[in-house]
Amino acid sequence: MTKVARGSLLGIESLEAGEILKILQLARRMNPQKPRALLRGKRIVLLFYEPSTRTRSSFEIAAKTMGAMTTLVQSSGSSIEKGESLLDTGYTLRAVGADVIVIRHPLAGAPQLMAKHLDIPVVNAGDGMHEHPSQALLDAYTILKHKKTLKGLKVAIMGDVFHSRVARSACHLLTKFGSKVVLCGPPELVPEVATTLAPGVSVTRHAEEALRGTDVITLLRVQKERLAGLKLRLDDYIARYQMTARRLKLAKKDAILMHPGPIIRGLELTSDVADGPQSVIVEEVRNGVPTRMAILARAAGKTR
Ligand code: NCD
Repeated sequence: MTKVARGSLLGIESLEAGEILKILQLARRMNPQKPRALLRGKRIVLLFYEPSTRTRSSFEIAAKTMGAMTTLVQSSGSSIEKGESLLDTGYTLRAVGADVIVIRHPLAGAPQLMAKHLDIPVVNAGDGMHEHPSQALLDAYTILKHKKTLKGLKVAIMGDVFHSRVARSACHLLTKFGSKVVLCGPPELVPEVATTLAPGVSVTRHAEEALRGTDVITLLRVQKERLAGLKLRLDDYIARYQMTARRLKLAKKDAILMHPGPIIRGLELTSDVADGPQSVIVEEVRNGVPTRMAILARAAGKTR
C-alpha cells in the first residue's frame, strides 16, 4: 500500500495553507469543556517510542474528551522492547482494531513509513529532527489568539534549532502565511543552512538583532549535555542568548513569549520571564487540547 489514508497528519511542509486553515478553524470550534462525542466508538492508539508529557497527555485528553477509547503503547513494556519492527507493531495495532495511530518516534520518517503501509490515518506526534506538526498547529492557534494575522509578523526562534522538529514545522507553517522567521543562536545550534528551510527564514547570531521589533518569541530547549558535546560553554550561551527581562524589552511591547516545553529555567530563560505577563507558555500547553481534538476529529473524518 503506498497511498496514505485520508486524515493523516505527517508534516506541515507538505500541507497546503488552505488545509492548515481548516484545521485551525476546526480547533476554534472545539470546546474541551463542552465536548461533542465525535469519536465515540473509535480506538486511538498512542504509540510513543520517546518520552513525552504535554504531547501525549493532550492527545489522550483530546481523544477521551470526544468519547474515543485510547490505549498507550510505549517502548518499554511492549514488544518494541523485544525488537519488533515498526511495521510489525503497526500491523499488530491495526489487527487489534486501531482506527487512528498517533506516533512519536526518534527517527525522521517513521510516521510516513507507517502511514504508507497501513490503511488507517497516522498522526505524527514528533519524528526525530524532522517535524512536529501538531505543535506547529497549536502554536499558530496560540499566536492567532493574540495577533490578528500571521502575515507580516516577525517571529524570533531561539535556542537549539538544529535538533528541533518544533522549529522545522514552525518555519514551514509561519512562512506559508507570510511571517518572517529569524532563527537565533550559535552556529553549532543554528546552522546557516537553516535559511534554505523556506523563503522568509533568516539567521542571526545576535539576540538583540533577533529580538528588536519582534512580535513573537519562541524559545527552544537547550540541553546542557549537547552544549558540552559541541564544546560550547554554558555560561557563554546564557550570557549571549538567555531570555531575560532586559532582553525581552527589545521586542515589541505586546510581544508574546512561547516555548513548546519542557522549559529549563535558568538556561533558556529566567524564571521571572517564564512566569511574566508576556509569557503564554501555559496557555500554549492548554491550547494543545482543542488543537489535537481538531487533528483527531479530522483523522476520523468528523470535520463538521
Ligand atoms: C518538543 C519535542 O518533543 O519535540 N516538546 C514537545 O513536544 N512539547 C520539544 C523538546 O523536546 O525540546
